[in-house]
Amino acid sequence: MTDPVPVITVDGPSGVGKGTLCQWLALRLGWHLLDSGALYRLTALAALHRGLALSDEAAVAAVATALDVAFLPGADEMRILLDGAEVGAVLRSEATGDAASRVAALPAVRAALLQRQRDLRRLPGLIADGRDMGTVVFPDAGLKLFLTASAAERAQRRYKQLIEKGMNANLAGLAEEIAARDARDAQRTVAPLRPATDAEMLDTTGMPIARVCEWALMLAARRLSIPVIP
Ligand code: DC
Repeated sequence: MTDPVPVITVDGPSGVGKGTLCQWLALRLGWHLLDSGALYRLTALAALHRGLALSDEAAVAAVATALDVAFLPGADEMRILLDGAEVGAVLRSEATGDAASRVAALPAVRAALLQRQRDLRRLPGLIADGRDMGTVVFPDAGLKLFLTASAAERAQRRYKQLIEKGMNANLAGLAEEIAARDARDAQRTVAPLRPATDAEMLDTTGMPIARVCEWALMLAARRLSIPVIP
């Protein structure tokens, strides 16, 4: 039997630094990247564009199944097209994140996106960023990472990110939104946010992202026997 394509899963709550770590790992190892949050965000946006109620499970799941998206390399960031039109900053907004968290709680929506995520497992390997990558989507991953950080620090990081992108942000409002989103993601009945039993945990509160990257790369080298030059 041939070896399965290697996967590193990175799960954790909003604003914990998963995105930065995953982009860095994908570039460093030359592996593919799955931003599963983007799929839930795109599903929510497509449903809103069609005037659907976000609680209409069957209709939103049908949208998720037929999702017409393209991820194209851009100058700085990936360009993302939904139904042929660039979605830009609206995809990353807190409002879209909140809508994504609502549709993500619907079992039929999660089922509709499952195979699309697994199909991205291609050689030389995949870095999978999300909430249920290690528990549900890639339970056989060779390395599972789970990041945490205090709620106050995650709100602060998200605030900085939004300001740097020239978007409006309010720190107190963000902290509240993040807390509400975490609660919804952790308490839903299907694929709740939680570490896999075999995940490596790291509390990144007060830790520079470079150290988080170093930790992940060291584990990748050890667990997956990847020849990496420090
Ligand atoms: O990582 P993100 O902020 O882009 O994710 C947006 C929302 O999507 C998040 O609040 C929960 C949901 N999500 C999920 O339920 N499962 C995933 N694997 C990824 C995201």
